[in-house]
Amino acid sequence: MDHFLYRDGILHAEDVPLTEIAAQVGTPVYVYSAATLLRHYRLFDEALAWGPHLVCYAVKAASNVAILKLLGDAGAGMDVVSEGEYRRARAAGVPGERIVFSGVGKTEAEMRHVLADGVRQINLESEPEMRQLSRIAAEMGVEVPVTVRVNPDVDAKTHEKISTGKSENKFGIPIAKAREVYREIAALPGLRVVGIDVHIGSQLVDLEPFRLAYRKVADLTEALRADGHAIERLDLGGGLGIPYARSNLAPPVPMDYGQVIRDEVGHLGCEIEIEPGRLIAGNAGILLTRTIFVKEGEGRDFLIVDAAMNDLIRPAMYGAHHDIEPVREPAPGSVRRPYDIVGPVCESGDTFAKGRDMVPLGAGDLIAFRSAGAYGAVMASEYNSRPLVPEVLVSGDDMAVIRARPSFEEMISRDTIPEWLNTP
Ligand code: LLP
Repeated sequence: MDHFLYRDGILHAEDVPLTEIAAQVGTPVYVYSAATLLRHYRLFDEALAWGPHLVCYAVKAASNVAILKLLGDAGAGMDVVSEGEYRRARAAGVPGERIVFSGVGKTEAEMRHVLADGVRQINLESEPEMRQLSRIAAEMGVEVPVTVRVNPDVDAKTHEKISTGKSENKFGIPIAKAREVYREIAALPGLRVVGIDVHIGSQLVDLEPFRLAYRKVADLTEALRADGHAIERLDLGGGLGIPYARSNLAPPVPMDYGQVIRDEVGHLGCEIEIEPGRLIAGNAGILLTRTIFVKEGEGRDFLIVDAAMNDLIRPAMYGAHHDIEPVREPAPGSVRRPYDIVGPVCESGDTFAKGRDMVPLGAGDLIAFRSAGAYGAVMASEYNSRPLVPEVLVSGDDMAVIRARPSFEEMISRDTIPEWLNTP
């Protein structure tokens, strides 16, 4: 459930008509619903209420500081994968002891920064990484809580580009090698083993791969405890999928997911951490855009809109489907016709949908790409020198621009012309 509904014939974000946002901020623009973000966070929190837990929102999904503040104030921890994300979480007021640092390629500078400023735990992904972290922590005179991300070799049955738990992926260490790796860590200075980490992929629409992976983690917990390691926390990653098309069967809900966790690892007495991103932010955001032209093609008509692949890359990158709705509610029984919905960027890949049935639309009409809150704005670029898309957060009848659209001057002034090009 989300809070983007038609009211008086106009699609609203909570109590604010999208027409109002377009008038004030212009298009394209991302619009988020605070109530939806909070609702999704709380669903996870409730699903794990049977034991000690921390829901660490995956900052990569939507990283605007206002969104992090909203979730952080509600009690969420954060899962970050770079110093930039870490700094955003801290700027949102989230204390270091609620921030988990993940990622395969943490640099020495990043390690030093989070060790100095405080971190709940670092999820290690390789042996060179753990040796480097040990050296830095020892040098800084601190002891850092760590887990090792294990690769359980489970097929998440999701899109190839977002599947991470198979042995051929770059992530984690093979689960079969885990005991050896934990033995080495226990002997290294500056590191304190606190648990195990696993993440098998994103947009999972079936709970079975989670179940298989978590069962392997439970077995490993027992083996590592027998080896003398203090396994007190299990970080079970993110990945629960969302419905992208209203017509499809809905994926499992957080409560069912929480039950799988309880079934598989609940008996171990560990604190559970999870790192959901998409389910919290995905359906809490839309991309609002305006039709520039309707172009009649051969055998098909094109809706050319003012958002493009640089603003929302998921369709071009993963062939992802996003439901697309006109902001003005279609009259019941309106006839629909197929459109190719495309952006202005000079690539054929700048296509949001092909042959999508829509009510007839004209130039100037507003439309909304749904389920765009996660991996939308964060993956935007300035390709074709299109200024970075702005963001708006709505709560009830309040709306606020949480990232302004940069002016052309701001965009261009980041470039500098070297002196030697100016000299005649
Ligand atoms: N934890 C780790 C270690 C991750 O790598 C990810 C996502 C998450 C948590 C959050 O997963 P979620 O709950 O959001 O599924 N750009 C792609 C998705 C990439 C996901 C990367 N890792 C997309 O637009 O579909």
